Amino acid sequence: MGRYIINGGKRLFGTVNVHGSKNAALPILCACIVNSGINIIHNCPKITDVYNTCRLLEKAGCSVLWEESTVVVDSSKAHFIVLDGDEVSKMRSSVIFVGAFCGRFKRARVAKPGGCKIGKRPLDIHFDSLEKLGIDVIDNGDYIDCVCSEIVGTELNLRLPSVGATENIMLAAVSATGKTVIKNAAMEPEIQALADFLKCIGADIDFCSDGIITIEGVNEFKNSEYTIIPDRIEAGTFLAACAATKGEIFLKNAAPEHMKGILTIFDDMGGKIESHKDGIHCNFMNGVIYPQKIKTGAYPAFPTDMQPQIMAVLTLSVGESIIIESVFENRFGHVPELCKMGADISCFGRKAVINGVPYLEAAEVSASDLRAGAGLIIAALSCGGTSFVYGTEYIMRGYENIEKSLSALGADIRYEN
Ligand code: UD1
Repeated sequence: MGRYIINGGKRLFGTVNVHGSKNAALPILCACIVNSGINIIHNCPKITDVYNTCRLLEKAGCSVLWEESTVVVDSSKAHFIVLDGDEVSKMRSSVIFVGAFCGRFKRARVAKPGGCKIGKRPLDIHFDSLEKLGIDVIDNGDYIDCVCSEIVGTELNLRLPSVGATENIMLAAVSATGKTVIKNAAMEPEIQALADFLKCIGADIDFCSDGIITIEGVNEFKNSEYTIIPDRIEAGTFLAACAATKGEIFLKNAAPEHMKGILTIFDDMGGKIESHKDGIHCNFMNGVIYPQKIKTGAYPAFPTDMQPQIMAVLTLSVGESIIIESVFENRFGHVPELCKMGADISCFGRKAVINGVPYLEAAEVSASDLRAGAGLIIAALSCGGTSFVYGTEYIMRGYENIEKSLSALGADIRYEN
C-alpha cells in the first residue's frame, strides 16, 4: 500500500499542464467498440481507470497501443465477452460498455459494477432506458443480461440527468433503427465530448444545451481521430491547491468555458482568475479566503467532483461556509480526516457547515474515494509539517502523476510504495 508524503506550507508557483479528462476518456474508450474500426485518441490520461478500461477492450479482442498520451484502439476483431472481473468490480463506469455491446453484438452481460464509495448509485435510469430502446434487461443476481434483436429509437425523459445513463443510451442509440430523443439528458462537457467523438465515427447526433440530445441511428461507422478535452476537475484541483497555499499558478490547457461554475466560486473566495486562450491564470497571494455557500449539482452547477477539494480550501476561510451535496447522499468521507488536521466541520445529512480556522495541522489521513483523496492532499499542502496521505490507489484512478504535477509547482510531495 502506497502513501503520499507531503511537507506542506509552501506556496504553489508556476505552470502546470492539465491532462486529458478522465470522465471524457472513459466513455470514449467504451465507444470504440461501436465502429469496428481504428480509433486514434490523443491526450488520453494515464490513470488506472483508463488502463482498466483498456484492459476490458483487450479482453474483448481489441488491439490497444499506446504512444505517449495517444492510444490507438482497433476494434475490428472485437467479440462478445462477459463484462466482469477486477476491472468491472472496481470501476462503475464499466457499465457504459453495455450500450456499446448491445449496439455491436446485440447482447451484454455485466457483473453489477463497483466504483467509488459515494452512496448507493443505483442504475435504474440506465436499464429502464435501455429497455425502452427495445433491449430485454434481465437481473440475474450478480449479473445483468441485456439482449435484443434490434435497438429501436424512442423518446426518453430521464428521471435525473444521470451522466452515465446518458452515455449508455447514446452508445446504444447510435446503432438504433430510427430516432432517439433524450430529454433531461446530462449536459456535462464530457457528454458533449462523447457526442463529438461519436460524430467523428459517423453517428448522427444533435446536442442541444437545453438538455435534449437527438440521435438518428445509422448503419455504418468509420475510423476516427479525436483529442480528449482537458480535465476540468484536475484543473479545479490544482486551483484549490493554489488557493489553499496562497500561491499563483497558470493552468496550461485548462478550458475556462467548461469551468464557469468552478471559477465563479474561486473568484468569490478572493482569487484573481484570468481566462486565456491557452489556459487559466490564478492568483491567491492576497491570502484571505472568503467563506462560501455552495450547492453541488448537475452541470453547469458546481460539480460534486470538486466538493472535497473546495471544502479543504474553505476550512481556511475567514468565517462560516456551507456546502450542500445534492448529487450523492454519502460524499463526506473526507470530513473526519480533515477534522483530524484541525478543521472545524459539522455535517447534518447532506449539509456541511465549515467554520474557518487560521491553519491546519499535519497528520496521517486516509482517502475514502478519489476526490476525497485530492481534498486531503490539498489540506496537507497548506500546513507546515509532514503529512501522510493513504488510499493512493483511489487517487491514481483519476490523477496522472499528481505528485509530479504538484512538484512542478514547487510542492514537496512524493509517492512512497
Ligand atoms: C459521473 C462521473 C462522476 C461524477 C458524477 C456526477 C464518470 C465516469 N463519472 O458518475 O465522476 O461524480 O457523474 O457528476 O463520468 N442515479 C440514479 N439512477 C441511475 C443513475 C444515477 O439514481 O440509474 C443517481 C446516482 O445515484 C447519483 C446521481 O444520479 O445520486 C448522479 O449520478 P450519475 O450522473 O449517473 O453519475 P455517474 O455517471 O455514476
